[in-house]
Amino acid sequence: MIIVETTEAIKSRHSVRQFSDQPVDQGIIKQIVQLAQRAPSWVNSQPWQVYCATGDSLTRIKNEYQKRDQAGEHGHPDLAVMSRDDWSSVTQSNMKQWRHEIVHHFTNFDEAHEQMTKASNTLYSSPVILYITIPKASPDWSIFDAGAFAQTLMLAAADRGLGSIPTYNSVRYPDILHKVLNVPQNERFIVGISLGYEKPAKINTYHSKRQPLSEVLHFSN
Ligand SMILES: Cc1cc2nc3c(=O)[nH]c(=O)nc-3n(C[C@H](O)[C@H](O)[C@H](O)COP(=O)(O)O)c2cc1C
Repeated sequence: MIIVETTEAIKSRHSVRQFSDQPVDQGIIKQIVQLAQRAPSWVNSQPWQVYCATGDSLTRIKNEYQKRDQAGEHGHPDLAVMSRDDWSSVTQSNMKQWRHEIVHHFTNFDEAHEQMTKASNTLYSSPVILYITIPKASPDWSIFDAGAFAQTLMLAAADRGLGSIPTYNSVRYPDILHKVLNVPQNERFIVGISLGYEKPAKINTYHSKRQPLSEVLHFSN
């Protein structure tokens, strides 16, 4: 049996980079986090915690991020970032293609750069960011679990007509997040998921492509 709604939620989820200022009802946030808790995890360890930034706390995060950006401070996320040159050739080529498509989606490189930078500098203007953390004392498997949790959450959001984007950008300065969201020092930030209602904007009409199935699925009979 194929559950049509599940397929539709998977297909309709995409990264939204500009949100409207319509608030998200706290009851809906509770529903989608509760659904995400159904994600599988190593020996049902459920390593995730979710810190919801909205209202004043989110404004403080955005302001403090902007100050750091203006000061030219590099991000120092809890998960290390690897230089693009060190990624495998296939993944480098996928990333290059994504950038190429984004530029072509806009009229030229300058417009694409301007729109993406604006979106990034405002943390996508979403009314909510859900921060997912795991304990610092965790194996790599817990990062896998947090990823499953994040995707389940985003699908539950899509099912309710909510847009989302998971970002490195929102977890670049963990010290700010610890302070504003009162997160214990023994937790580390995996990703922030911006959540809200999609604004009709050109940046949101780009839908990323995927490799042909034959490039990723390998049967062995
Ligand atoms: C862990 C992670 C971090 C990401 N960080 C960013 C980010 O900082 N900025 C951004 O614009 N997109 C970010 N993205 C979104 C990806 O660019 C996006 O998922 C990818 O291009 C595929 O597009 P789709 O989500 O629309 O299907 C991130 C995605 C993941 C999974």
